[in-house]
Amino acid sequence: MIVLGIETSCDETAAAVIEENNVLSSIISSQEVHAQFGGVVPELASRAHIRLIVPIVERALKQADKSLHEIDGFAVTYGPGLVGALLVGLNFVKGMVTATGKPFVGVNHIEGHIYGNILSQPKIEFPIIFLIVSGGHTQLVLMEDHLKYRIIGKTRDDAVGEAFDKGAKLLGLGYPGGPMIDKLAQKGDPDFVKFPRAMLKNAPFDFSYSGLKTSLLVYLKNISEEEKQKHLNDICASYQKAAVEVLIKKTLLAARKYKAKRIALAGGVAANSLLRSWLQKVCEQEGLELYLPELKYCTDNAAMIARVGLEYLKHGITSPLTLNAYPALKLKEAGK
Ligand code: KG4
Ligand code: ZN
Repeated sequence: MIVLGIETSCDETAAAVIEENNVLSSIISSQEVHAQFGGVVPELASRAHIRLIVPIVERALKQADKSLHEIDGFAVTYGPGLVGALLVGLNFVKGMVTATGKPFVGVNHIEGHIYGNILSQPKIEFPIIFLIVSGGHTQLVLMEDHLKYRIIGKTRDDAVGEAFDKGAKLLGLGYPGGPMIDKLAQKGDPDFVKFPRAMLKNAPFDFSYSGLKTSLLVYLKNISEEEKQKHLNDICASYQKAAVEVLIKKTLLAARKYKAKRIALAGGVAANSLLRSWLQKVCEQEGLELYLPELKYCTDNAAMIARVGLEYLKHGITSPLTLNAYPALKLKEAGK
């Protein structure tokens, strides 16, 4: 089955063509217009998607060497995300569905990130503890089978990607901040500043990241600009270690509690080098299997959306043309 996927939930306009588990093309255009504002401006995102969607889809088809009529079905993100941005992708797909008479399915963006990992696995076994870490979400999910999820923990305030981005903003680094902090942290001392780790003893699988950002703010207020510049790498390394350590500990705890022998990582922050290497080390120590996503499928892309779509379309699950965008869409849990 050949599926064309589209992703426009935030500031990436992306289209991809997959044939079963093979990615024939994956085109991503990251909108640069937002960098000057230090975050995504929704109206500018919608306008950029409108400008980019046609050339991006054309490129995805060309690179895959497929015509529109060779596509068996379409998949598109319908939430969560920015409503105007989501509507661009959704309506574009409805147009292609009308023109070709082929089916389509609306995909949850978080489910997309999960399949961004599965996309790279030659074989996969369940159950898996999935740690989903992106700019908008931090969740621990027990995945018992394809398309079957149980949310066992989530953030109570900021997502971990948000903590990276807000931290980077306070440090005067660019947007998105995660990759910058990751890069500078590699040359720094991770034990230079002892930032807090919110373990939430009464909710062992939930997360809280707003305190980390505040502690950085307070720390920076008490040092000079000169001191900040001198120790920028050390501050980044310490901040990153605090953010990542909580993720590692809670994920391991979840694997033990739910007797899962496999851990998987998904979402933009899954590209973080410390998170990947630390998790690799502890999984080896604990005898757990680790599914790591390829770097190109960590941050937003459309191949992951197409891959979820393939799974639904194969089960005969499609969406009606009346499907709307849902900015606050939640991951659908099995049996609910
Ligand atoms: O999944 P994604 O592309 O978009 C959302 O669905 O939110 O994730 C983007 C997030 C941003 O917060 C970005 O700073 C973070 O992923 N990120 C990283 C790294 N690469 C991207 N965070 C830490 N280290 C990285 N290497
Ligand atoms: Zn995402």
